[in-house]
Amino acid sequence: MTSTAIENALVINGVDKTFGATDRPAVLQDVSLQLARGEFLAVVGPSGCGKTTLLRIIQGLETATSGTVELPSTTGAAPRLSYVFQRSSLLPWFSVRKNVAFGISLKAGRDVHGSKVARDRAVDELLELTGLSPYADYLPNQISGGMQQRVNVARALAVRPDVLLLDEPFSALDALTRERLQVDICAILENLGTTAVLVTHDIREAVFMADRVAIMSAHPGTVRQIVEIDEPRPRTVAFQHSPELAEVERSIWRRLHPTV
Ligand SMILES: Nc1ncnc2c1ncn2[C@@H]1O[C@H](COP(=O)(O)OP(=O)(O)OP(=O)(O)O)[C@@H](O)[C@H]1O
Ligand SMILES: [Mg+2]
Repeated sequence: MTSTAIENALVINGVDKTFGATDRPAVLQDVSLQLARGEFLAVVGPSGCGKTTLLRIIQGLETATSGTVELPSTTGAAPRLSYVFQRSSLLPWFSVRKNVAFGISLKAGRDVHGSKVARDRAVDELLELTGLSPYADYLPNQISGGMQQRVNVARALAVRPDVLLLDEPFSALDALTRERLQVDICAILENLGTTAVLVTHDIREAVFMADRVAIMSAHPGTVRQIVEIDEPRPRTVAFQHSPELAEVERSIWRRLHPTV
């Protein structure tokens, strides 16, 4: 493998997807994307353009009709992927701490932490990073929706994923909680150097969090354009409410609504 290939954490090459009979319309057509290691890519596009399908193909839950998805490994070990969904998927009878640790024990066969002490330390660190330490012993139904999504993110990060896939992770939350989580999750991913793909309907969220925003169109789902977000990290609350962000948000909105 070439060094440029290894610098990429994810390479999607000419992916097509048709469900069922091949005479059905394609859901995805010729989708190609490359993510450098540590890069944050957001994907926006109309409902039904195949965003979730694309994430499911990356994760191996669906197979592409044609094209390839590569996750180049730096170590020779199989790259790890984690997924955070829109809705909370916590185990209701487990405490916050156990839910986060469960992410690791699920993948015990590929334990990245080596020992129980190291695993416990990793869980403590993630609880701290996500602001969950005071709630470590609470059950999911004893914490707010925003806190539950923090637990989902912490659990996904517990396996130290090479690539984190986020499918509208904040869309069920109120605006203030969502903004706070955007800032915090951005900082955590920057801190850990995690490569991430975020699917969202919230253009402002995409611009705030991402290095690049892929704009998709539907029927068939294709990547129409990729917009670079020229803003240094760490991303701050000031940027979240800046005229610069609003301007980029407007221009992406216009590209998604060309007839308006
Ligand atoms: N298992 C499946 N079998 C058949 N068709 C499917 C299947 N999964 C998705 N589709 C179709 O693929 C298209 C894209 O769906 P997908 O869920 O990927 O869209 P999306 O961009 O994530 O939409 P949204 O923004 O509403 O979440 C839709 O037309 C959907 O009906
Ligand atoms: Mg979807």
